[in-house]
Amino acid sequence: MGDQIQVLHSAHAIAARLDTLAGEIARGMGPEPAIVALLRGSFVFAADLMRALHAHGVRPQVDFMTLSSYGSGTTGREVRLIHDVTLPLAGKDVLLIDDILESGKTLAFARDRLLEKGASSVRLAVLLEKPGKRKVAIGADFVGFTVPDLFVVGYGLDYANRYRELPFIGTMEPPEQAAQE
Ligand code: IMP
Ligand code: MG
Repeated sequence: MGDQIQVLHSAHAIAARLDTLAGEIARGMGPEPAIVALLRGSFVFAADLMRALHAHGVRPQVDFMTLSSYGSGTTGREVRLIHDVTLPLAGKDVLLIDDILESGKTLAFARDRLLEKGASSVRLAVLLEKPGKRKVAIGADFVGFTVPDLFVVGYGLDYANRYRELPFIGTMEPPEQAAQE
């Protein structure tokens, strides 16, 4: 505790952006997509985005997948499946939701898993994107905010499992590279 956190995007700015994003998603996908949100980081974003989507006429089915990524800069991060989706996805257009697209390993892993389960398409919605950090060639179809290469917390994103509850997105001093989820 005691970390200095600067507000990057306020709760008000996030709500306004999500409404616009929900409109884009509603136009880009059918009215009944399957939503798969990655735990734990995307739970706040996913909950608010779903309700914004409802206002735009989208009536999704919703499920969750828990992934964990471990490792250091030298060994490279490795993604592991902790809890899989149970919603049948064969033939479905899936909207895959995560908190942040950085190296792309997490989302590439999740997307491949959903395609293996028979999803007919998988589109990616992320709250945040850090450009120039990609290790896997993957792009998001829907992006809330592009952020600078700083460590961000709040609105679901954590540092050592703290700060997820913050209603805004903030930046803090880059912590030691540790296990992240
Ligand atoms: P990727 O596989 O490198 O794209 O990693 C994405 C995952 O790393 C996200 O789902 C986050 O949990 C975590 N992550 C990456 N950057 C940050 C950050 O700045 N703050 C908090 N978590 C982060
Ligand atoms: Mg995460």
